[in-house]
Amino acid sequence: MRIPLIAGNWKMNNGVKEAQELASALSSMVGARPEIGQRVEVLLCPPFTSISAVATALGDSSIKLGAQNVHWEESGAFTGEISPAMLRELGCEYAIVGHSERRQYFEESDATINRRLRGAIKGGLKPIICVGETKEQRDQGRTEEILREQVSDGLVGLTEMDALKVTVAYEPLWAIGTGQAATPADANTAAAFIRHLLVETFSEDTAEQIRVQYGGSVKPGNIATFMGQPDIDGALVGGASLQADSFYRIAEGAVGGQ
Ligand code: PGA
Repeated sequence: MRIPLIAGNWKMNNGVKEAQELASALSSMVGARPEIGQRVEVLLCPPFTSISAVATALGDSSIKLGAQNVHWEESGAFTGEISPAMLRELGCEYAIVGHSERRQYFEESDATINRRLRGAIKGGLKPIICVGETKEQRDQGRTEEILREQVSDGLVGLTEMDALKVTVAYEPLWAIGTGQAATPADANTAAAFIRHLLVETFSEDTAEQIRVQYGGSVKPGNIATFMGQPDIDGALVGGASLQADSFYRIAEGAVGGQ
């Protein structure tokens, strides 16, 4: 039984003050509906500089905390990077790795993403690895080829025990920030293919336990249709996670859509 994960990726938004306000509002809204916290995991991934403020604002809320990226070493001469130990110290349980914006704008490769993912696990964090094809790759019929490459290179070197800590987020690039979400059926086809790759890489039993999220223009109005799909175990939400009301309604809709 996979507990869905509804994660808000704030990207480069919300300094300390805004982060505090948003996290406090969400904490009260989710706190008033304990069944949400029991039936789905709700996660916030603020920018590094706001993590501490969000941790304080969340207090003992059921809402979890994560980062948007992580380095593979625990410390050292890696200017501009943040280690798993530093994130754990702030109360983070999760770290996103390989978001398409990291791949696109910061030249992250499957190799660096794999190092970050393995470093996160070694450092006690649960990684969320993002994979997905561009519009051009989809039009060329290369979706499965791209997913195969990103999943196998991104997850190389993991034991089955390690793999159980991973969440895979299927995020087709053409759906991110565009308002054009994938259809639930297409998203489920991709998620099922990812699960098939996980069976090949690990085992049926392990693959059955790994969560596969969908991300790309998830909104309160479409979350239930994604959650109704058998291979989709939650959502990675960008834009709609920046307002307390819309992110709360996504978490609420995720419970209803199960
Ligand atoms: P979006 O972003 O919800 O704004 O499309 C999703 C993401 O990038 O994770």
